[in-house]
Amino acid sequence: MIPKRSSFPPGFIFGAATSAYQIEGARFGGAGTSHWDSFAATPGNTHLAQDGARACEHYLHWESDLDLMQQAGFDAYRFSTSWARVMPDGKTVNAEGLDFYDRLVDGMVARGLKPFLTFHHWDMPSALATRGGWQNREIVDRFAEFCRSVYARVGDRVETAATLNEPWCISWLSHFMGAHAPGLRDIRATGHAMHHVMLAHGTAIQALRADGARDHLGLVLNFETAHPADDSPEATAAAVRQDAIYNRWFVQAAMGQGYPAEALEGLEPHLPKGWQDDLATIATPMDWLGVNHYTRKNYAHDDGPWPHSAEVAGPLPKTQIDWEIRPEGLTEFLLRLKRDHTGDLPLYVTESGVAFADEFDDPKRIDYIAAHLRAAQAAIEQGVDLRSFFYWSLLDNYEWSLGYVPRFGLIHVDYDTMQRTPKASYHALREALSG
Ligand code: NOJ
Repeated sequence: MIPKRSSFPPGFIFGAATSAYQIEGARFGGAGTSHWDSFAATPGNTHLAQDGARACEHYLHWESDLDLMQQAGFDAYRFSTSWARVMPDGKTVNAEGLDFYDRLVDGMVARGLKPFLTFHHWDMPSALATRGGWQNREIVDRFAEFCRSVYARVGDRVETAATLNEPWCISWLSHFMGAHAPGLRDIRATGHAMHHVMLAHGTAIQALRADGARDHLGLVLNFETAHPADDSPEATAAAVRQDAIYNRWFVQAAMGQGYPAEALEGLEPHLPKGWQDDLATIATPMDWLGVNHYTRKNYAHDDGPWPHSAEVAGPLPKTQIDWEIRPEGLTEFLLRLKRDHTGDLPLYVTESGVAFADEFDDPKRIDYIAAHLRAAQAAIEQGVDLRSFFYWSLLDNYEWSLGYVPRFGLIHVDYDTMQRTPKASYHALREALSG
């Protein structure tokens, strides 16, 4: 049973989340190509070379999608702006692109949905990617300019604005593991990306504040318990290193605690020269932190190069894409963040969700949502200032390298007809939100 709205503190925000490249359809509205288009067009990178050219054609169907949000009884909608749509060549504004987001935000406000904006959720204009993307320090100012253009247009109506979604994915997953665009497996590229992405965050916060932004600026990070796969001290050490890379690098830097030693031991030689001088900018105060939580990972020792770790399958129940389900991890991270890093900074659950193949009748998704909402409640009861819970995702959509196979939506999408059909979980959530 999904806990009812009335069992949460008054004003707690319930929403659903999406991102531009995953739903809009990059072929519409004068968007430039992004590094996700070229990554997907390269054999072996994405399932059947699928890309976001059409996605859910939300660019065409955004009004009825917002109607479905409103009919579910949600308070808020978390969305992102496509950098390649707003600045197709990386620097010149595409008026059609900003007009789209202006209409979208107006559409949310008209339906009583609070807009939660994320400036960047991974689609970088090809023109910038070609110049080295996150490896090249010049991206920092380009990114701040992009954020300023978007904010100047819609900032007056958004409830919150986050600079970036999941910088671990932007840097480590994409430059070390090669799993996301630009598909590199290079530790030097990774070190540069992990630093520049955080410098871009801090620089953008400063630029937006200088432009008069309200106190509603934040950052969205993902957290995954790094669990030792066996009892050996080596597996524990491998998990500690992965925890430092995944769960501490970004939050520590943003909160003025520097980069963790267990990650610096491998990455320091690969960071841009003079990186220490940027830490103050990276730690520019923000107003809230977004928490994305899905699963945990199990790590064994590996004799190969640093970080000497190998991910292995764990024993817990799994989702359609083999992610272990462990709701208590959400409570643990919310408490840990408050205790070790964020103190009194408000926290928002900006994503929690699950892929199951069930098309319309999805009882396991209902269970997942119920368990994760209870996990959020447990953290609130223990003193965490938690303000929201956003389900990922409103719609089935483009799941990056896995293409259109994983279905995360509360609403089923038929990718031939673009027909939307609310699943049982959508109805169960609507029921819980009304009570
Ligand atoms: C995190 C990302 O923000 C989103 O883009 C992705 O689809 C979900 N997790 C599920 O993997």
